[in-house]
Amino acid sequence: MHALIVVAHPNPGSLTHAVGHAISAGLAEAPGAHRGEFADLAAEGFDPRFTQDDIAVHLEGATPTADVLAEQARIARADALVLVYPVYWWSMPALLKGWIDRVFVNGWAYGTGADGKVEKRLRHMRVHLVALGGADQRTYARHGYFGAMKTQIDHGIFGYCGARVVRSELLLVEHGEDGAPQLEQARDLGRSLFAREDPVRDLAG
Ligand SMILES: Cc1cc2nc3c(=O)[nH]c(=O)nc-3n(C[C@H](O)[C@H](O)[C@H](O)COP(=O)(O)O)c2cc1C
Repeated sequence: MHALIVVAHPNPGSLTHAVGHAISAGLAEAPGAHRGEFADLAAEGFDPRFTQDDIAVHLEGATPTADVLAEQARIARADALVLVYPVYWWSMPALLKGWIDRVFVNGWAYGTGADGKVEKRLRHMRVHLVALGGADQRTYARHGYFGAMKTQIDHGIFGYCGARVVRSELLLVEHGEDGAPQLEQARDLGRSLFAREDPVRDLAG
């Protein structure tokens, strides 16, 4: 099986990158011939800005630009999509949000069915979300930030397209910590990425 591990962080020396690599290493250790493909959106220079070409795809069904088609093709080649990102302002970084805005488009990720209702086109897709945050658990709990992220990202984005969010993790690393437990957790996540064969369930709405 093949996992596309998408990392959205400008610094290749960051803990976020190390977590992405730990997931990939864990996947290689798992029984079976699994493979992780690393997609470093920052190093690859993915442009997250939504352009007139993108709005033409959304409104008029125009063909997406080559960079968007290439992203859709590599997602389509994968059995699982793993997103690894730092929490910026209680959500995902703009680089990753722009990637989703431009790539998960009308006509590919979803469409309009014959009955005029939204057609979810990514029902086959399994998604694993791994967010890293610098705030503490109490802050997240007090304000319901992680619940808000799950509503917006797991349900609002992937549920809308019919994809199954298999895992949604928040790894908190407070100032001064070395991140070793989080890296071990990431390795475990990689080892068990394809272990669970959950039925694809619809996130309603
Ligand atoms: C612009 C910016 C916004 C941030 N906002 C949050 C936030 O809302 N909540 C949080 O827990 N951490 C926040 N952080 C901290 C990052 O999530 C944290 O530094 C990162 O996860 C640590 O991983 P890294 O070493 O890979 O950067 C923010 C960091 C930056 C640079």
